Amino acid sequence: MTVATARLGFGVTFTDHMVVANWSQATGWTPLSLTRNAPLSLHPAAMSLHYGQAIFEGLKAYRQPDGTAALFTPHRNAERFARSAARLAMPQLPPDAFIEACELLVRADAEAIPGGFGQSLYLRPFMIATEASLGVRAATEYLFAVIASPVDHFFASGAAAIDVWCESRHSRAASGGTGEAKCAGNYAGSMPAKAAAVARGCHEVLWLDAAEGNWVEELSAMNFFCVRQPAGDQPELLTPPLGGTILHGSTRAALLTLAGDHGVKVTERPIALAELLDPDSPITEAFACGTAATVVPIGGFASENGQRRLPTEGVGPVTTMMLEALMAIQYGRSPDTHRWMHRV
Ligand code: COI
Repeated sequence: MTVATARLGFGVTFTDHMVVANWSQATGWTPLSLTRNAPLSLHPAAMSLHYGQAIFEGLKAYRQPDGTAALFTPHRNAERFARSAARLAMPQLPPDAFIEACELLVRADAEAIPGGFGQSLYLRPFMIATEASLGVRAATEYLFAVIASPVDHFFASGAAAIDVWCESRHSRAASGGTGEAKCAGNYAGSMPAKAAAVARGCHEVLWLDAAEGNWVEELSAMNFFCVRQPAGDQPELLTPPLGGTILHGSTRAALLTLAGDHGVKVTERPIALAELLDPDSPITEAFACGTAATVVPIGGFASENGQRRLPTEGVGPVTTMMLEALMAIQYGRSPDTHRWMHRV
């Protein structure tokens, strides 16, 4: 499949191949197998359908200036996948096998990697319980697979700023729960709040902590950053600390490093909702980040307790610098000094 550099959307078309492996308690993992992308055959009692043993990852292959492809920090995804599996009592896929599966698929579908700046081949590795049983326990059989989709921007609006609804009725994750696992159920639980946010004219939900409903956590599929810059001071980049309820984003980790490279002070600390909503707050910019979305400016916050538009409408100098610096590395336009790009 060859992809023209027209508008691709996000995750709506898929490449010709997939990579699969199966695990059973009796025999462990089968070798990885490259096959045609085709519907899966599942028993209606497959345990993932009933009890939610389903985890996934998202990573991208980027076309490099010399025509080759490179994955962005796949080892981080492999490690997070293993941690998600452990949290849901699923078998561990060795990180080397995870990366090899991604490489196999990128090589097989190399022609489908779009060439436009901002476009990429999004890989979706996932694992589901396949054992047919209604017993409430960890399954003894699983399927691991990787599929791929040529994509451009995650939001239909492109890189334009989004407005977020600060959710106080539902919560995404509680201490001791599955918040830092990338499991399907976390996303299902976020959907009513997302639909309500969209009905209020917002694009996304900003989740608050479950205990007090006071501290900013993350968006449904992205980590959160903001910039604090009292008049006359240097900007400081803030993001909530990872405390078990927030996803360990690979984009988040890269941006923390990149900010340091560019001389921007970074602080991981709790951020109160009131700090974002206060009209006199020195928070001047905010953005969301993730593999799918890269860096998306946030233009304003709305909540039960009021709303606030950011002075820069989100698209401020630090947000712009972060986005440009990250994309320049991903697309091979600036030196990969941290060795984040994994050539395939
Ligand atoms: C990603 O950024 O890869 C994510 O996992 C978000 C996804 C749910 C679209």
